[in-house]
Amino acid sequence: MKFFVDTAEIEEIRALAETGMVDGVTTNPSLIMKSGRNILEVTKEICDLVPGPVSAETVATDAEGMIAEGRKLAAIAPNIAVKVPLTWEGLKACKALTDEGRMVNVTLCFSANQALLAAKAGATFISPFIGRLDDIGMDGMELIQEIRQIYDNYHFSTEILAASIRTVNHVKAAALIGADVITAPPAVIKALASHPLTDKGLDAFLKDWAKTGQTILG
Ligand code: G3P
Repeated sequence: MKFFVDTAEIEEIRALAETGMVDGVTTNPSLIMKSGRNILEVTKEICDLVPGPVSAETVATDAEGMIAEGRKLAAIAPNIAVKVPLTWEGLKACKALTDEGRMVNVTLCFSANQALLAAKAGATFISPFIGRLDDIGMDGMELIQEIRQIYDNYHFSTEILAASIRTVNHVKAAALIGADVITAPPAVIKALASHPLTDKGLDAFLKDWAKTGQTILG
């Protein structure tokens, strides 16, 4: 399973990248707004830091506009995945951009049928939003399961990029289903390492070690 980090904060990406946990990055207009940075500049910095796919989102609502924006974003670096929304216009843009050999991430996916269309349009990634479905009382993980089954039934190569991940349990459930990628905020990725019994065990080991009076490095 690949881990993408869902942020446009360069320092957070840098810190996580040092652990080898960052296989890619996803951004969106809200994350760019939060960063306070220029989209072209910050995206270039992220691409220089992370060799894996870096998603940068178009904001036009018509296919022609998305294609033009997509080409401009893709010119930033070879590892750009152009993000388009799952609308009919977005699907048209997806087909055109993938035909040009560019990576495309189709975002704002909330149904299995939408995911089926994205795969048929040649999407590199489909981004189903788990947390936002949970927010309205639906089961986001059920959508991941349905898409996994459909893509496997027909051997689509589109990768399932489970997005809007809010908790460590989302990560585990997506991994058990076989999502190809998760994208999560840095705090969620870091929280994967935490367990109270790890902290408790380490504390006990260190207390006992202190009683030996030894040092390993001499
Ligand atoms: O990349 C988009 C997605 O991860 C958004 O997450 O928490 O805003 O629903 P959230």
